[in-house]
Amino acid sequence: MAQLWGGRFTKETDKLVYDFNASISFDKRLLKQDIEGSIAHATMLGATGIITEEEKASIIEGLKGILMDVTEGNLLITNEYEDVHSFVEANLIDRIGDAGKKLHTGRSRNDQVALDMRLYVRQEVTDIKYLLQKLLQTLHGQMKNNLDTYMPGFTHMQKAQPVTFSHHIGAYMEMFKRDYTRLSDIYERLNYCPLGAGALAGTTYPLDRDMTASLLGFYGPTLNSMDSVSDRDYVIELLSAISIIMMHLSRFSEEIITWNSNEYGFIELDDSYSTGSSIMPQKKNPDIAELVRGKTGRVYGALMSLLTTMKGIPLAYNKDMQEDKELAFDSIDTVKSCISLFTGMISTMKLNKDRMNESAMKGFANATDAADYLVKHGVPFRDAHGIIGRLVLYAIDKGKAIDDLTLDELKEISPVFEEDIYDAISLKECIDKRNTIGAPGPDAMSKVIAENERFLAKITS
Ligand code: ARG
Repeated sequence: MAQLWGGRFTKETDKLVYDFNASISFDKRLLKQDIEGSIAHATMLGATGIITEEEKASIIEGLKGILMDVTEGNLLITNEYEDVHSFVEANLIDRIGDAGKKLHTGRSRNDQVALDMRLYVRQEVTDIKYLLQKLLQTLHGQMKNNLDTYMPGFTHMQKAQPVTFSHHIGAYMEMFKRDYTRLSDIYERLNYCPLGAGALAGTTYPLDRDMTASLLGFYGPTLNSMDSVSDRDYVIELLSAISIIMMHLSRFSEEIITWNSNEYGFIELDDSYSTGSSIMPQKKNPDIAELVRGKTGRVYGALMSLLTTMKGIPLAYNKDMQEDKELAFDSIDTVKSCISLFTGMISTMKLNKDRMNESAMKGFANATDAADYLVKHGVPFRDAHGIIGRLVLYAIDKGKAIDDLTLDELKEISPVFEEDIYDAISLKECIDKRNTIGAPGPDAMSKVIAENERFLAKITS
């Protein structure tokens, strides 16, 4: 048990207490950030004359050595240290002697851990954005390729109006674009440096907080030392953004599972993204989509858990906040693997366009267009709605689609129908005429696709 704070204690910590309190088993993930932060702190201590140039140089060399040795597997982070900060400091002192004992001058583990988490979250925000960018590129490709892949659009899971696969995918494109920009927003708010806040009330040393903030790529230092050590908003914001991403992936998964079902058959997932059954030889299951849907619950749980942890904590630092780490790490790992797998799954799936087309033809998805035809010929919409309702009832009775009824049958219900009704309610016409901004028609879609192209060009530049 290597502790930084034994001085005022006369007894050893109880073993159970030690294990319960320790965070090394999970915060060892912050080693790189801890060392990066310590290098900046030492650089500043040297520049301000709080330690000598030699001490500074020796500390930095020692810190770099620790990182290299751990990375190369020559130094193990073991549970004999309380946390990653203690591990680094103890190893530094072992390596360079007394100069190592000066690293913690003007610093507390409270501002240290707040810094480590910010650096970590900041990097992960960038990494998740990159994975979203790959997903957006895949979706964009599918949108461009499926402008005339007709399918039914649904409300209440009932066929409603025809859309295209491109348009349907476009809905997810919008969701993930929002997710992307949401992460950019979070970055803007979190990119301030808490280092130098000390335990809670700053320090009496002449620290240069602007310098450490700038060395670490922050916009500047945080402005209240008590808030600096007890703020975990950025973790909560990230968990919230991740939860929304998972919600989008989960809805999409639900559709993939439905489309891939034997009954729908709109798509077929690739063998490499499907799994089999131990008993039923015919099965090819969409386990990846189901797992993405399932893991959404666990990420929501992390968000709720951290919000609840934070709600009762008085200022400033309290140990409760150590709970942020496992929740954040697990959710970040989860969302990253879900986005990557999802991207692979949807870029390898095959579309069964005939099946989608056939499904769009059946089920009266063009009933609104039939009503609109009457409206264009002078029938008030509410009357047209009633007429087409009766027409649908008649067609259901005959087991036919509207398109399959003869002109005589149509005229029987409304004399307004003429031969051109068949064109007017063809899938192609139903789509081609819908060109209000955001609609599935080709003119409307080409504007959106151009806009998405600009979005992608901006985020990849
Ligand atoms: N492991 C702690 C955490 O994650 C580090 C900060 C400890 N500070 C303290 N005063 N005990 O929050």
